[in-house]
Formats: sequence, C-alpha cells, structure tokens
Amino acid sequence: MPARILSGIAIRDQIYAELTQEIADLSGAGIRPGLAAILVGENAASQIYVRSKIAACEQLGLGSWQLTPPATITTEELLALVAELNARDDVDGILVQLPLPAQVDTKRVLEAVDPAKDVDGFHPVNLGRLVSGRAGLVACTPAGSMEILRRSSIPMEGTEAVVVGRSDIVGKPMALLLMHANATVTICHSKTRDLPGVVRRADIVIAAIGRAAMIEPDWVRPGATVIDVGINRITDAEEAGRIFTNFPAKLAQFKEKGFVLVGDVHPGVAEVAGTMTPVPGGVGPLTIAMLMSNTVKAARQRRAQEQAPSSAHRNGKTTGAAAVKR
Ligand code: GUN
Repeated sequence: MPARILSGIAIRDQIYAELTQEIADLSGAGIRPGLAAILVGENAASQIYVRSKIAACEQLGLGSWQLTPPATITTEELLALVAELNARDDVDGILVQLPLPAQVDTKRVLEAVDPAKDVDGFHPVNLGRLVSGRAGLVACTPAGSMEILRRSSIPMEGTEAVVVGRSDIVGKPMALLLMHANATVTICHSKTRDLPGVVRRADIVIAAIGRAAMIEPDWVRPGATVIDVGINRITDAEEAGRIFTNFPAKLAQFKEKGFVLVGDVHPGVAEVAGTMTPVPGGVGPLTIAMLMSNTVKAARQRRAQEQAPSSAHRNGKTTGAAAVKR
C-alpha cells in the first residue's frame, strides 16, 4: 500500500490561520511584530529564500525589512549592522541569510544577534536552551518537522528515530527535539557504519543529508514514517532518468523545465513507508511558517520581558516572562 503523504502546505495553512488570530490580538494591543532580513551579496538561491520570507511577512501583516549589503562587506561592518537591528524597538526578529561570503566570520555574526531576536534559533544561547529543554527560539526546519509529526498524530514516545545528517541547523536540533518528545534517537553521518542497517531500525526517519534520493526503498522499514528535509535540484538528464525511472510525470516535468526537484529520499520509498512527506510541498512550507511563528513569539516574549519589571513592581511579585504563552 503506498504511503500516506503528509502535505506541508495544509499544515502551513493551519499554522497561518492560528498566527493570523494571534497577530490580530497583538495588533489590538498596538504591537506589530517585525522581521529584518540581511541578505549579503547576490546568491541566487538566497535571494529566492529571502523573497519568500518577506512575502510571507506581507501576507500575514507583519513588518518586514530587507537589508542587502554588498558581497564585499567585512565582518566588522556586518556586526555594526546587526548591532543597529538589535537596538531597534520595531525589529522583533533578525535573520542573517546563510551562506555568508568567505571573508565574513559567520559564527561571530550569528553570535552577535540578540538571542531574544534570533528567529532562526542559531545563537548558542538558544541552542543551549534547546539542549536543556527550556523553551527558546528553535531553528525553523526542525521545528517545522516536529509540527508535521505532531499535527499528523505520528506517535513519537518510545519510538526509534533515526536522524540522517548532523548539521547545526537541522540534524542536531532535530535530534534534540525528538529526544525531548521521548523518542530513542540515533544520529547518523558520513562515517556511520552500515547506514542502511541503522536506518532500517527506525520507526521515524529524518533525512537531512543534502544528497539527492540517497535514502533507498530497501533502507526503510515497511510502515515507517519518513520526513524528507532535503531539496535538491536535478539538472542532469541521466540522473533524472535514474531516479525517476518509474515516475513518468516527473520525467515529463524534467523534459519541460530542464530540472526537477527531489528530496534526500528516493521517490520509490513511498511504496514502503507508512507515512512520508513529499518534495516539494512537505517540510519546505513549514520552514517559513515557523520563521513567522518565531517572529510573533519573539515579539510577545520581548514585550512581556519589558513589562515584567513594572508589573512586578505593581503587583509586588514577578510576572511577565513567566506568564508568556508558548
Ligand atoms: N540558509 C539555508 N537555510 C537557512 C535558514 O534556515 N536560515 C538562514 N538564515 N539561512 C539559511
């Protein structure tokens, strides 16, 4: 029986409906959450991503600013830009689109972002909060993958979860989130011995390696849930022919457009898995939805923190941050 396909678009729409209500409530209180995106240079993929993020802000009625310094920017200049955004009261979220040019010290820049405005969840303070299980701003792609699992009622407690890929942005935070959901988590990487054998143990597979169609059908335990985080653009006809031998619609798409998108999971896995996310239209839409959600959350939490001293003074006790809804 073919896998149940989990539409990220439907789940994104659900999240947007909830956010719309929350944004309206904040607006009633005179608050308009705002996101500032720094896009350095002219990287075509980054331009597309940032455009989609700004469009999502506009769709939801959030404030948005796009800053586009040249590719020749120095670390010091970028640090100054981040400091300016940290200081601005109308900016709730700051996003530095990666990758940055080689001359820029990426770690220093990411660490300069105010953790309260770090809507990408890349700052060591937010990573540390995630490690210790305290609510902070969580990286958008892993957070979105968890939303798919939760909102599709996929059981996690007590299951074997295998995360393929150990990046700071996806693999590591994903493993922590699954562990906090009481799954037994294995992280695999390029040096893992018998990778197919390890993946075959999993009730839940998270594919986040960045290699087209790498997870083969015979790696997957029948009935498993497979979350495909990868998005790879195939422009080579031979490769497209190999991956999509039994998928004439995809081959027709390749012929028409000259490229086709595929995840890190081979499309044939849909015949083995119980549940699977598609590419495109799976995890991708959730990444931006969680960025919007983090921006709203950052706005709420920052206001709550600002109000905490005065309300504590008024009530004679500490309120505010502790009362923040998550
Ligand atoms: N580059 C690729 N993915 C991301 C992301 O999620 N956030 C940022 N800032 N840059 C990226």
